[in-house]
Amino acid sequence: MKLSEPIRFREEVLPSDVEAVRELATSTGFFSQEEISVAVELVQERLAKGLHSGYHFFFAEHEDRVVGYTCFGPIACTVASYDVYWIAVLDDFRRLGVGKRLLEKTEERIAALGGKRIYIETSDRSQYHATRGFYRRCGFTKEAVLKDFYAPGDDKAVYVKVRML
Ligand SMILES: CC(C)(COP(=O)(O)OP(=O)(O)OC[C@H]1O[C@@H](n2cnc3c(N)ncnc32)[C@H](O)[C@@H]1OP(=O)(O)O)[C@@H](O)C(=O)NCCC(=O)NCCS
Repeated sequence: MKLSEPIRFREEVLPSDVEAVRELATSTGFFSQEEISVAVELVQERLAKGLHSGYHFFFAEHEDRVVGYTCFGPIACTVASYDVYWIAVLDDFRRLGVGKRLLEKTEERIAALGGKRIYIETSDRSQYHATRGFYRRCGFTKEAVLKDFYAPGDDKAVYVKVRML
C-alpha cells in the first residue's frame, strides 16, 4: 500500500483514543480480551490523571485515523529505566515504517526525559516471531528469557536498548 498522505504523530491523549486503542489492539489479532482491556485502561488512567499516571503515549495518524501507537513510562524504583508497555500498528498499515518511526519518537522522548535503558517484553512464542524481528531491526537486543512466564511453554523475552550518550 502507498500512503495517500504523510503520517502525523501526536503525544496528546484524547478521549477518542480509548476506542482507537481498543480498535488497534483488536485489529492485531495478537491480544486476548484481557490484554485489550488492560491497554484501554492505561489510556483511561492517563486521561484521568495526566502525566502523574506515569503513562506516556505516541499516536500515529493517517487521514485523522489512529493507525498505530506506543505506550511507555518510567519503571518505578529505577534511576533511568523505561518500559515500552505497548506498541501496535493497524494491520493495513504494517511494514510501512510506522512502527519503527513510533519507536524512534518514543526513544527520543525517553531520552529527553533522562531515560537510559529501554525495556520491551514479549512472548517468545512463534506467533511473535515477526515482532521479535521488528525489535531487532530497531536495535533492541534480547537480554533475558524467563521460562514458562506466561504459561507452560510460553516464555517471556525481555529486550533492551541502552542509550550510550
Ligand atoms: C510489531 C509492529 C508494531 C511492527 O510495526 P510495523 O509498522 O509493521 O513495522 P515497520 O514497518 O516500522 O518495520 C520496521 C522494521 O522491522 C522489520 N519488520 C517489521 N515487521 C516484520 C516482520 N513481520 N518480519 C520481519 N521483519 C519485520 C521491517 O522489515 C523494518 O526493517 P527495515 O527498517 O530494515 O526495513 C506491528 O507489526 C504490530 O502491530 N504487530 C502486532 C502487535 C505486536 O506484536 N505488538 C508488540 C507486542 S506488545
